[in-house]
Amino acid sequence: MINKKVENALNEQIEKEGYSSSLYLAMASWAEIKGLPGIAEWLYIQSDEERTHMLKLVKFINERGGKAVIPAFKQPGTDFATVMAMFEDVLKHEQFISASINDIVAICIAEKDFTTQHWLQWFVNEQIEEESNAMHILDKLELLGDGNLYLFDRDIMSLRQDSGSSE
Ligand SMILES: [Fe+2]
Ligand SMILES: [Fe+2]
Repeated sequence: MINKKVENALNEQIEKEGYSSSLYLAMASWAEIKGLPGIAEWLYIQSDEERTHMLKLVKFINERGGKAVIPAFKQPGTDFATVMAMFEDVLKHEQFISASINDIVAICIAEKDFTTQHWLQWFVNEQIEEESNAMHILDKLELLGDGNLYLFDRDIMSLRQDSGSSE
């Protein structure tokens, strides 16, 4: 049976990954309405990836004899000041998620649940990629300035560093 403290922490992470999926979906929808289909596509894919992160947690908890609980997700914002401000929010959110994953790793170590600690390494590595993707996008936006988004929107999908994150 999975350790109860670890199970609770993983269940809280289900909420965070599910909220991430909703947040990026809200951002995608906003970008689509603003006439930025490339940015929207990047965010729609990101939203799907967050859902697969949530599913990984659900399945792991259940496989280990725990009980995954699907919570309500709070409503994300519906408007974003600028594309730059939106991606700053993406980076901040990913940093928050990284800290949360690290906290769970610390709980696993304290509870001597080395199986879950080892399993979480996938998320630790994924967060390196997620933060680096967001920083890379912000670097490009700094270069371009927020007023010149046509080329950025066309090229954003080529900035994806994707190592098959859904597995
Ligand atoms: Fe995630
Ligand atoms: Fe993420």
